Amino acid sequence: MSREYRVGHGQDAHRLVAGRTLVVGGVRMPDSPRGPDAHSDGDVLLHALADALLSTYALGDIGRLFPPSDPKFAGLDSREIVARVLEKLELHASGARLENVAAVVTLDAPKLGARRDDIACSVAGLLGIEPAAVGLTFKTSEGLAPDHVQASVTLLLSRAP
Ligand code: C5P
Ligand code: MG
Repeated sequence: MSREYRVGHGQDAHRLVAGRTLVVGGVRMPDSPRGPDAHSDGDVLLHALADALLSTYALGDIGRLFPPSDPKFAGLDSREIVARVLEKLELHASGARLENVAAVVTLDAPKLGARRDDIACSVAGLLGIEPAAVGLTFKTSEGLAPDHVQASVTLLLSRAP
């Protein structure tokens, strides 16, 4: 019997401000002079990933699960968001498998290339997949959005019928 495949897609963006720590895919970059202005830690890659996961089965989005207006989510570690979304999806219980994740992060500075393996390992660890299944593309905005960090994530789930 062939497996059922579901595509997921999510995006996120935050403004960069002084005095905040840049966090991408659960990896902190304390050397960055700016970080995301956000209610949680502002990890755009994990927010886009969480929304991509939810979208596979039309489960809404993280704004619904973790309302920014709710003070108990202030400063929330986004790895916790991904963990809760995985629980909600019941991936393992349902025999589903995450085939691969393809992410694009747009950020003018700092350059992320040197942290590619760290970010892939961090994301893969959260998802229980191999780092080789986490494709990471880093782009600048060519100066068009120097004050923003953005991420877009597409992924593929499969499940035995
Ligand atoms: O945006 P652009 O095509 O000019 O980026 C050139 C290269 O710089 C990218 O292919 C990527 O390898 C690297 N890059 C990076 N970190 C960023 C943005 C771009 O490592 N924040
Ligand atoms: Mg280019």
